[in-house]
Amino acid sequence: MYDINQVRADFPILARQIYGHPLIYLDNAATTQKPRQVVEAMVDEYYNVNANVHRGVHYLSQQATDLHEASRETVRQFIHAKSTNEILFTRGTTESINLLAFSFGEAFIHAGDEIIVSTLEHHSNIVPWQMLCQRKGSVLKVIPMSDDGHLDLEAYEQLLSEKTRLVCCTHVSNVLGTLNPVQDIIRIAHEHDVPVLIDGAQSVPHMPVDVTALDCDFFAFSGHKVYGPTGVGVLYGKENWLDRMPPYQGGGEMIKNVTFEHTTYNTLPYKFEAGTPDYVATHALATALDYLSALGMENVHTHEQELTRYALQRLSKIEGLHIYGHSPNSVISFQVGNIHHLDLGTLLDRLGIAVRTGHHCAEPLMRRLGIEGTVRASFALYNTQKEVDALVEGIQRVAKMFG
Ligand code: ALA
Repeated sequence: MYDINQVRADFPILARQIYGHPLIYLDNAATTQKPRQVVEAMVDEYYNVNANVHRGVHYLSQQATDLHEASRETVRQFIHAKSTNEILFTRGTTESINLLAFSFGEAFIHAGDEIIVSTLEHHSNIVPWQMLCQRKGSVLKVIPMSDDGHLDLEAYEQLLSEKTRLVCCTHVSNVLGTLNPVQDIIRIAHEHDVPVLIDGAQSVPHMPVDVTALDCDFFAFSGHKVYGPTGVGVLYGKENWLDRMPPYQGGGEMIKNVTFEHTTYNTLPYKFEAGTPDYVATHALATALDYLSALGMENVHTHEQELTRYALQRLSKIEGLHIYGHSPNSVISFQVGNIHHLDLGTLLDRLGIAVRTGHHCAEPLMRRLGIEGTVRASFALYNTQKEVDALVEGIQRVAKMFG
């Protein structure tokens, strides 16, 4: 049973008042709020366990190491990877993609090679590839999309050639909420022997994800968007790729032996984890994933889909309100008449309603849509229909002010 009141009681921040109004937090695609279980896991580890991992023979170090490695196993189970060797801890989706761009780039990208991304990408799945293309003299190709935000799969097939080395695509758009047909994208790439990275930053918090069933080669997501702490994320990679990729950073932990003449590297996943990992954050991330598993990702998905459908229905009745894309995946981007998105966002904030405004770190997508920015409401497992009603009333109030 999905008891929304019980769920909300786990998130202390939801009881806050903002400018005298109850907080209505609809900026979950930027970051989610944290249940007390996650915060308590962090406090408990700092108060009672703290010691560096993988380095000490003493009790606390062993205990911290056990928690850290158990967290890797929790992540593995949550996304259905085959082995913990496939789970690399990073600082977040952005670092996961930069790691891949550097390391995969060093091993497999040469002058004239091509990398495919989609029009729907966040800057973090564009810029690292552009930087790699600049370093290597390779070429970035872009899958086009329809006006309502769906990728053109025929055009995608045309883009693939014997020069293509990698396809990078977001699972769910952080701007439009479009759920991309990643299964088709992966199958088609594999028919050309091309590996695929899926950016799962906006999918893992909202729906069950199975990387083995998807058969993607790489998959990235962030802790803070999935009710975990900031500063931790995951890069999943198939072992046969990770084995052939060089380390991203050098330092402690990623080595087997070091002399001044030569260094040999550690086995997976440690080869990619130089330095002290944020072991408190990895444990807290695992606590967040356990929290989600206890609720059931299917239940979370159903709740958010119902909520998004309700919001789409109500918002679409507001005069002058235009919704971009129309996929019910916890994200709705819109504009109201000629009201600037910044004005609308600022005035909604005065009513206690937190939304994001602007280009949402997706300038090329904005350019494709012919706009500068939108207002974006994005939902999480704790949002309610009453909060959607408040958003609708808030927009109506602002629209009235603007005549
Ligand atoms: N990527 C985050 C967002 O879409 C920050 O808001």
